[in-house]
Order: sequence, then C-alpha cells, then structure tokens
Amino acid sequence: MLKMIELPYPLTALEPYYSKETLDLHYNILYKGYVDNTNNTEEKLRVVREKRDFSNIKCLEKDLSFYGSGAILHELFFENMGPAIPTEPDIELMKQMIKDFGSYEIFKEQFTEASKTVEASRLVFVSMGS
Ligand SMILES: [Fe+2]
Repeated sequence: MLKMIELPYPLTALEPYYSKETLDLHYNILYKGYVDNTNNTEEKLRVVREKRDFSNIKCLEKDLSFYGSGAILHELFFENMGPAIPTEPDIELMKQMIKDFGSYEIFKEQFTEASKTVEASRLVFVSMGS
C-alpha cells in the first residue's frame, strides 16, 4: 500500500514563487488523489488475480501506471523543492547547461515550454542540443 510522504516544509515555504493555495492543492488534493487511486487500483488488481479474470487488465494496468506515476512525480517535486534551494545552478552544472543548451537562459526557456505542454502524468525529458 502506497502512503503519502510528509510534506518536508510548511505550505507557505515556497512563496512567493508557489503560493500556499497552489501547494495545498497539489499536496492535499492532487497528490492524495494519485495515492488513493493507486491503492484503489492495486486492490482491484488483487481481486482480479483472486478471480483469475483478467478481461479488464489493460485498463487496470494503465490506471496503475497513470496514478502511480502521478504519485511518484509529486513526491519528486515535493522533495526537490524547498526554501533553501539556490536560484542558480552551481558552476559545474552551469558549465554543462551552457555546453548542452547554449546558455542557462535557453535551458530555462526550453524547460518552461516543455513543462507547460506535457501532461502531468508523464516525465519531461528536455532534449539537449548536439
Ligand atoms: Fe500536481
């Protein structure tokens, strides 16, 4: 059974970049929904196995993938955000970003646009330049 992680900081910790209301929505409503639905789907799969009736397996496996990845991605977000995170990458990361993207600004622009257009249940892979 999947359990919600504790939010590692108060709901106001990411302000002014991320409002208390927005963090509350993502933690207490959306993330909770992904965790609850992952557990509900796992229970349905347990029943399916018990009955040995796999006629709906495609739908259940898709649900498990969708809800499970939604929960994991929210945990990654919560654990990687925080009030003490520097606003600029360290020197080594900055060098690599300049090498891969041309500049830090271009990386941010590409990442921002990709983040806005890709659904929440999928990982965002930012294609690097050659
Ligand atoms: Fe969210």
